[in-house]
Amino acid sequence: MATEEGDARGRTERLGFHSVDREYDTTLPVHGTLPGWLAGTLLRNGPGRFAFAEGAVDHWFDGLAMLRRFELRDGEVRYRTRFLDTEAYEAAANGAYAGFGTAPDAGLLRRVWNRLSPPDATDNTSVNVWRYGDETVALTETTALTAFDPETLDTRRRTDYPDAVDGQTTTAHPHHDRERGETVNVATRFGRQSSYQVYRVPDGSWDVESIARVSTDRPSYLHSFGLTERYVVLAEFPLVVAPWRLLAPTDESFIERFNWRPERGTRYHVLDRGTGDRVARIEGDPLFCFHHVNAYEGGAEGVSAADPSTLVVDMITFSDAAAIGSLYLEDLVGEDDPVEGGSLTRVRLDLDAGRASAETLHPGGIGLPRIAPAARRRPYRYVYGQDTGGQPVTGLPGGVMKVDVRTGEATRYRRPECAFHEPVFVPNPYARDGATGGAAAGGAPEDAGVVLTLCLDRAAGRSEFLVLDARDLTELARAPLPHALPLDFHGQFLPAWRHD
Ligand SMILES: [Fe+2]
Repeated sequence: MATEEGDARGRTERLGFHSVDREYDTTLPVHGTLPGWLAGTLLRNGPGRFAFAEGAVDHWFDGLAMLRRFELRDGEVRYRTRFLDTEAYEAAANGAYAGFGTAPDAGLLRRVWNRLSPPDATDNTSVNVWRYGDETVALTETTALTAFDPETLDTRRRTDYPDAVDGQTTTAHPHHDRERGETVNVATRFGRQSSYQVYRVPDGSWDVESIARVSTDRPSYLHSFGLTERYVVLAEFPLVVAPWRLLAPTDESFIERFNWRPERGTRYHVLDRGTGDRVARIEGDPLFCFHHVNAYEGGAEGVSAADPSTLVVDMITFSDAAAIGSLYLEDLVGEDDPVEGGSLTRVRLDLDAGRASAETLHPGGIGLPRIAPAARRRPYRYVYGQDTGGQPVTGLPGGVMKVDVRTGEATRYRRPECAFHEPVFVPNPYARDGATGGAAAGGAPEDAGVVLTLCLDRAAGRSEFLVLDARDLTELARAPLPHALPLDFHGQFLPAWRHD
């Protein structure tokens, strides 16, 4: 059992942020009953190793990428893990590692600086999974991609986004627009002329088409962005970097070179997906977020959803960027688990008046938000997320929660002895009209389906795969894993009946 182990930097690894020393391929025992309609594969990505023979990474985001696969079929759960075969994996074995929050040591920097195009371009693709062309790929925030076999999890090839992606970073949170049959994403170029680029990639292709560009003097750290039917919303938070600081050799990590500049406020750039024009640049209060939740046009009370003059942009926000610092492993392995909880915040952008107004929909302790795929880009009702336990938060997420954005009411599934992963909503494809009436297409209730998640029972020293009824978060089934799984980032469900 992977438990607390020392490492080369003298730090103690803690369950949830520990290194896994083997790969798994097994069928999990199921307690309870999986819904008969539930068939498909949950692919998840996240760190699997933090400590190596000659050292360790400093930040949760920098653990080596390990894929997790849960195949649901005929009432069974097949479980498989594989580390990705990346340059970062090879380098770590040789004592060289750097990343988002881990600085390269000076010797490494001198040796391989020429290879480290700014920012340090790791191929440790540990954040999310996606489909480009006919391939399944692992994503991080650099332009590196790792294509893998979605069944065996074997690494197929190390690659990069096409050159048409104009930047050294691009988010690990693209949007898939099923109606238009395309993925939309944002890249950031750091340089003498810094800019954000919005691009689209048609389904089934690797052809990148630039949609829009916004220049900036101080690029912001963009983890995600908003997408409506007509617009892309770039929320430029005041966590910014002077580009030269990323171009010069340094002993600081990528994110350590950013500064919190609240006097800049948050700048919302609203870009037309069709013309590429910037239709508005609106300044709002300073705030920070990793994760946008949803965005749509026509959010004012009594205003038609078709009215494009007001945009609703929902995000999990923090009052400043201290949340990044709280995810350093030295803090995460400490006694107090000081992970700050985010708040579910609705920002309304009045495009005619050029005004931003923020409203708290739920005051805090929610992380890694997901919504029903059919609710994207339209008025909706439910957000699922980790329950990080109230504000201010001092614990790892001890549950999952569902927030009704119309009422602010929260429903919870809590097990305080456990730490929970991102909850992924999977719609029941056979659901029909019901009483709860959300925004899902086809008349089905928005919450007709299940929530798939994982929890790490830190007392028992092992993880469980969980299937919850999305209506009330009651438990339908649990499947214990044979080991403790490190907390991970994001996953996608690939239904057996179609690609999501
Ligand atoms: Fe993320």
